[in-house]
Amino acid sequence: MEREGTMERVDRADGARSTHRRYEDLEGQEGRQVFFRPHRHSAADLAPLAASVRCELAGATLDCPLHDVSQSGIAFRWPAGAPVDAGQLLRLSLRFDDHEAFRGVVKVGSVRRHAGATVIGASFQEFLLDVEELHQLRAVRGWGAGAPRLELAQRPWRVAGGERFQALVSELRLHFEDARRELGELEASLPWEVLGGPPNPARAALVERLRGGFVADVVAQTEAIAAALAEVPGGLANPGARQWSLRHLDEHLLAAPSAQRALRKPFGYPGDYEMMNFIYERHFEGPTLFARAAGLAFVATRAPLAVRCRKDLVRDQLGALLARRAGSHEPVRVLSIAAGPAQELFELFQRLEELPAPLEVVLFEQDRNALAHAWRRLHATAAVRFPGRLRLTFLHDSVKRLLRDPRLFAGLGQFDLVYSCGLLDYFQRATAVVLTRRLAEVTRPGGRLLVANMVDHPFRWVMEWHLDWSLIYRTREELLEIGAAAAPGAQGRILEEASGANPFLELVPS
Ligand SMILES: C[S@@+](CC[C@H](N)C(=O)[O-])C[C@H]1O[C@@H](n2cnc3c(N)ncnc32)[C@H](O)[C@@H]1O
Repeated sequence: MEREGTMERVDRADGARSTHRRYEDLEGQEGRQVFFRPHRHSAADLAPLAASVRCELAGATLDCPLHDVSQSGIAFRWPAGAPVDAGQLLRLSLRFDDHEAFRGVVKVGSVRRHAGATVIGASFQEFLLDVEELHQLRAVRGWGAGAPRLELAQRPWRVAGGERFQALVSELRLHFEDARRELGELEASLPWEVLGGPPNPARAALVERLRGGFVADVVAQTEAIAAALAEVPGGLANPGARQWSLRHLDEHLLAAPSAQRALRKPFGYPGDYEMMNFIYERHFEGPTLFARAAGLAFVATRAPLAVRCRKDLVRDQLGALLARRAGSHEPVRVLSIAAGPAQELFELFQRLEELPAPLEVVLFEQDRNALAHAWRRLHATAAVRFPGRLRLTFLHDSVKRLLRDPRLFAGLGQFDLVYSCGLLDYFQRATAVVLTRRLAEVTRPGGRLLVANMVDHPFRWVMEWHLDWSLIYRTREELLEIGAAAAPGAQGRILEEASGANPFLELVPS
């Protein structure tokens, strides 16, 4: 064993050396080292606890600001002129806020000058202050600043006057939770190929059953929530209602890949052609049965339904136009603005055995992938089936240029039918008027321009709050007014699709 300062170094059996000291070698300390000086805590250290020291002196009560305090003593300012001597006993109480930490006798040990004031140092008699308790109290009292306030009134999801809205949203959440569990159990019991393999009767039956139950209920509940929200002060602009909905429903609504895409907007803008494909065809997709069911519910709600209904209207209008022109040698000329996946054309061509009249279609779209997708499908379903009868032109350009340049379509001639769906809803009125004017200009006299725009609908709250998908909703009157401003000489009216949420402005130039 060798001695090194105050440390013992002990050779262990394995030859390693330890710096630990053994209990049997501890000798205690001597002289000054025995002196125990507890840590002092200034009044500022203990903030936000407010310290108060009250001394009794000759029948009077003196309030003495605390200087510092330790386990064993206290220092405080002494009123100028009041008599005091070292060794004197004083009776005092020490409080922090409303907590009395000490009441009793202290012995004055020092009287000194500090920063122009008299400061007394005194020791508690037969008492040790529980400083740890003070720190705990300080931690709890100090928690308020910057920390959650645990006050109901401060909760961001409070909805004053929104009890019905809240109840319906909570109900929908519970419905989702239960469905998630129940569908999880069903999924676990099904052979993989029912959901994972090619289409099969069991999957079709499952979809039918979901549509008649879970989906129908979710749709009805979203509409009931919209009606209740209309009664909430501020409606859609009520921040508490929005928070309430996000907290309850986000994870369930966003379980569907379609809803995820709507929210994430991977192309940087809402309503890209893949999103439209979800709405048109990809209804039962997702990593779990619940995700698929949520997707099925999503596409059954009012806005996606309206998208399909407006597509049906255009498809049927074009079909009727072709039928009216049956036998004509003059081609029917059609212009689709912001064509996206061109689902209406795809469906129409699938339905037709043959084209009643030659057809020329120009698809105008800013997304080249959307055009490529449309080309692939239309080429396969139509161009090869109707050789010499169908001409498809894909124009990759932006409406922005059309707005600036009235001659953009100059070389294309005039059209019997011009339509745009899902576009006007993104443009402010002035832009909407110019766009409508440009389109009316390329519609032949007696031809038809159809411009769709969503009106307010009961799925709007989900789109805006959960999917961050805002549109410029217009009334039918506003649509007619845009038509009148864009093409004063044209005949204007409103055409309704089946959902009632996405009317068309129809203009017939004379
Ligand atoms: C909501 S989708 C509608 C697609 C299609 N009309 C339909 O109803 O299925 C909107 C489409 O407008 C296209 N688009 C958006 N801004 C455009 C612009 N400035 N010029 C041309 N197309 C645009 C998008 O690429 C997208 O395909």
